[in-house]
Amino acid sequence: MTEDEAIRRLRAAGCVFAEDEAAVLTGVAAGGPELAALVERRCAGEPLEQVVGFADFGGVRVRLRPGVFVPRLRSELLVEVAVEEAGRHPAPLVVDLCCGSGALGLAVREKVSGVCLHVADLDPAAVACAEENLGENVHRGDLFDALPAELTGRIDVLLANVPYVATRHIPFLPAEARDHEPRTALDGGDDGLTVFRAVLAGAGTWLAPGGLLLSEVTEAQVEAAIAAVAGNGLTPAVVTDDDRDARVITARR
Ligand SMILES: C[S@@+](CC[C@H](N)C(=O)[O-])C[C@H]1O[C@@H](n2cnc3c(N)ncnc32)[C@H](O)[C@@H]1O
Repeated sequence: MTEDEAIRRLRAAGCVFAEDEAAVLTGVAAGGPELAALVERRCAGEPLEQVVGFADFGGVRVRLRPGVFVPRLRSELLVEVAVEEAGRHPAPLVVDLCCGSGALGLAVREKVSGVCLHVADLDPAAVACAEENLGENVHRGDLFDALPAELTGRIDVLLANVPYVATRHIPFLPAEARDHEPRTALDGGDDGLTVFRAVLAGAGTWLAPGGLLLSEVTEAQVEAAIAAVAGNGLTPAVVTDDDRDARVITARR
């Protein structure tokens, strides 16, 4: 398959950015037969990042695997807030809980010197992917259960881009997410805040005094998220970026 043929095939499958995507796919394919195989995966609805095996996020190139959550552009706001916070410490301990590919932690580690980074996820595919991206301090398990005990009470910056889609909204997600990202990466329970509340419940114990938890929420969740933070004895704040349709709730110990 040639690049022109790839453009035509992608267009016929309804791909809006057929030229751009054909260029990316051509760039990674070793030859015509491989390009044809990649184009077919994309036409079947697999996210481009999973097909090519990487995503460019927050200034870093992150390796991705099929079935691993694709980091979203809006989550760069989480990275920006985390970088600012981590930059206040000479040797910050940063944890990326619910790390998926490890994209957020990797981006922070690239931007702030002296960072000690630990990441964790429940999903073995995500953990394997994060290991490829980060090399060390990658843990598997349920939220804080995954972390080494010696991090207790020492975390300066706790990134937790948890699943936060309300269960009833899952059917309305784009097919790329519904069909190619695990439900555990998306479903945040009744109001989308179930996993966030579980993180909050442990945050007071795991954060250092003055440490900061950061999580992404939707506009509709902001009020309930603020109440949940305050209810756990932490100090809430919200950072918003309308251009990226991004909202970060922070909770300071
Ligand atoms: C929305 S994705 C975010 C991934 C990554 N932080 C990012 O922004 O690209 C949520 C991640 O949380 C993980 N996850 C869900 N429930 C979890 C739990 N109880 N403990 C640890 N990880 C969990 C999923 O496997 C998934 O990788």
